Amino acid sequence: MSVITTIADLKRLHKRRTPRMFYDYAESGSWTEQTFRENTSDFDQIRLRQRIAVDMTNRNTASQMIGEDVAMPVALAPVGLTGMQSADGEIKAARAAEKFGVPFTLSTMSICSIEDVAEHTTKPFWFQVYTLRDDDFMKRLFDRARAAKCSAIVITLDLQIMGQRHKDLKNGLSAPPKFTLSSMANLATKVPWGLEMLQTKRRFFGNIVGHAAGVEDPSSLSSWTAEAFDQSLDWDRVAELMKMWGGKVILKGILDAEDAKKAVALGADAIVVSNHGGRQLDGALSSIRMLPEIMDTVGDKIEVHLDSGIRSGQDVLKALSLGAKGTYIGRAYINGLGAMGEKGVTKALEVIHKELDTTMALCGRRDVKTLDRDVLLVPEGFAGKWE
Ligand code: GLV
Repeated sequence: MSVITTIADLKRLHKRRTPRMFYDYAESGSWTEQTFRENTSDFDQIRLRQRIAVDMTNRNTASQMIGEDVAMPVALAPVGLTGMQSADGEIKAARAAEKFGVPFTLSTMSICSIEDVAEHTTKPFWFQVYTLRDDDFMKRLFDRARAAKCSAIVITLDLQIMGQRHKDLKNGLSAPPKFTLSSMANLATKVPWGLEMLQTKRRFFGNIVGHAAGVEDPSSLSSWTAEAFDQSLDWDRVAELMKMWGGKVILKGILDAEDAKKAVALGADAIVVSNHGGRQLDGALSSIRMLPEIMDTVGDKIEVHLDSGIRSGQDVLKALSLGAKGTYIGRAYINGLGAMGEKGVTKALEVIHKELDTTMALCGRRDVKTLDRDVLLVPEGFAGKWE
């Protein structure tokens, strides 16, 4: 492919270059994938208001997320197994984010460890944690994140049990991949990926293997989830974890106005309106459809971010115009990483930035911080009440 102009171009290359089990892991939702599909198709329902003869010089996409300067309000979302999409993938993505000037969020389920990423970057990154039962492990995780100078933690609140993703089960997803006849046949067609992987020692869950006690099969995300995650999680426990960390906290997985109020009451620094990219509760409404109600309820009390469904700078603009202060991309940058490593992540960020900047100009705005509902044409009932 000669000229890359869209995230879809990167996705095609990602599919070609990366073993099926990892491409599928990124590209799937749970069960029927209805929510996964609607996360993107609902963005498409919102249209833009074309304005003309408005001075479009000196445009600015820079803003802030949780008080940190960002070149555009688009952070890299936490994504598990990133180092399986491309060798040392988390380091590559974090470096691309740092150079571009946007936040990088490291997943607990990463291949490169917190220390690996800190060693290869110069600016603080964010660290995502799940709500686990093992206090010792949580405390050590927080200590490690503090030692690595992480400037915020992102607590994932919608994954105490895992939504069933058929493809992962059928592919026997694990890190590193287990050799079955079918995985070997597929791996044999991914030679450059394999050669790169052979040159790194980072092929296991770097934050977990050697750190978590009593985990039977540390190569499998689903078995670790079943063993270590806290199904008794409640808001008191969230408060406890926030206290244990003691620094900035972003609560992720809020899709309901009532839950948003609870997050505000705990004093979080921001919430992420998210349905986990359609990977958890299939049948939930898309994040962008839920955003207006959550903004109406808590928008003046807490910083609101959004993930799930963003594949373009136009999607970013739509979320910002509905009131989000920040957004996250997951699959969009993973497509870049799987396609072309660090350069691909940079490419994904450039694509999104250009789309955001050009769209903003053609809507008659010069600064992302001034985007508001006036920029959009939203179909009647889009964010109406569902009973
Ligand atoms: C982990 O958070 C996943 O969605 O796979």
